[in-house]
Amino acid sequence: MFNSKIIGLGKYLPENVVTNADLEKIMDTSDAWIQERTGIQERRHIVKGDGNSTSAMGVKAAKIAIERAGLEPRDIDFILFATLSPDYYFPGSGVLVQEALDIPNCPAMDIRMQCSGFVYAIATADQFIKTGMYKNVLVIGSEYHSGGLDMTTRGRNISVIFGDGAGAVVLTQTKDENKGILSSHLYSQGKYAEELSLIGPNTGRWVPEIMELNDPEDISYYPYMNGQFVFKNAVVRFAEVIQEGLEKTGWTADQINLLVPHQANLRIAQFVQKKFRLGNDQVYNNIQRYGNTTAASIPIALTEAWEEGKVKEGSKVVLAAFGSGFTWGSVMIQW
Ligand SMILES: CC(C)(COP(=O)(O)OP(=O)(O)OC[C@H]1O[C@@H](n2cnc3c(N)ncnc32)[C@H](O)[C@@H]1OP(=O)(O)O)[C@@H](O)C(=O)NCCC(=O)NCCS
Repeated sequence: MFNSKIIGLGKYLPENVVTNADLEKIMDTSDAWIQERTGIQERRHIVKGDGNSTSAMGVKAAKIAIERAGLEPRDIDFILFATLSPDYYFPGSGVLVQEALDIPNCPAMDIRMQCSGFVYAIATADQFIKTGMYKNVLVIGSEYHSGGLDMTTRGRNISVIFGDGAGAVVLTQTKDENKGILSSHLYSQGKYAEELSLIGPNTGRWVPEIMELNDPEDISYYPYMNGQFVFKNAVVRFAEVIQEGLEKTGWTADQINLLVPHQANLRIAQFVQKKFRLGNDQVYNNIQRYGNTTAASIPIALTEAWEEGKVKEGSKVVLAAFGSGFTWGSVMIQW
C-alpha cells in the first residue's frame, strides 16, 4: 500500500474583476448587503470570447501544477475533473483536458459533487494511488458560473455569490505512511437535493418541451438556493466532518496548521473557526476576492496558501467542504 501526497499546485483566475459596485449597477443590491452576509468584495467573471471555458481554465491551472510537481503532462496517469459547470452536458470536461494536455489515452473522469467536488476528487485520487493502480493523478476543480447566472434582481441572492476560476493539484505515491492524505471522510444526503440545485432542463423535461412552453417565468435553468437552509446545514456538517477527521488522525484542533474550508460564505468559515477555537492564522479565506467558485474554491485557496508559505513540509492541513446534494466531506493531510 502507498500513501498519496500533493506535489504540485496551480490556479487560474480570469482577469475580469467584478466588484460589488459593478453589481449595484445591474441589479438591486448593495456592497454593504453582500459584504455583511457573505464577506465577498469582488469576484472574477469570464468575458465571453476571451478564450476561457471550464476546461480551458482547468488546463491553465493544471499546467502550473504539473510544472511545479517537476513532471511533464505525459507523466500523468489519471485525470479527475471536479465541476458543476462542465463545458458540455456530455462528455465531461476531463477528456477535454486529456486532449489539451496531449496525454495519449489517459483516463479522465468527471466528479459531479458540486461544492464538495474537490474533496471527493482528492479522496478518489487517494484510493487509486493507494492501491497502486495509478502513480501520478491530476485533480482539477474548475467552474464557469457567470454565464449561467440570473444577473438581474430576481437572481440576486445567488448571482452575487458565485465566481469563475480553477485550481489543480498533482498527487503522487509515497511509501511514507505518515505523510500525505491520512484520511478522507465523505457524505451525502439526497433528501435535500433540490435545496441547492439547477434542475432544468432535465430528463423529465427536455429542452424541446421547455422551448415549446417558452414560459418567461420558467427559471428552472438558473440555480436555485434555499440560502438559510443551506447555511444552517453547512455549519453543522462542516463541524461534524472536521471533528471526524480530528478523531481519525488523533490531531487536536490547536495542532491544525491550516484549515482550508470550501469558500461558501465567510460567515460559515468564521462560524467553523469559532467552533474549533482556531486562530486567524489557522484558517485560510479568500472568498473576499473570488466569491464562491464551488469545486475550484479549495484548490485555488490551497494553492494561494502554499504560494504564501502557509502550507509547507510538516504542516497539518485540513480541507473541508459542504454543498449541493447535499454533499460534504473532509480530507486530513500531513504535508
Ligand atoms: C444567501 C445568503 C447570503 C442570504 O442571506 P440571508 O440573511 O439568508 O438573506 P435572505 O435570503 O433571508 O434575504 C434577506 C433579504 O435580503 C434580500 N436579498 C437577497 N439577496 C440580496 C442581494 N444580493 N442584495 C440585496 N438584498 C438581497 C432578500 O430579498 C430578502 O429581502 P426581504 O427581507 O425584503 O424579503 C445566506 O442565506 C447564505 O449565505 N446562505 C448560505 C449560502 C451558501 O453558502 N451557499 C453555498 C453553499 S456551497
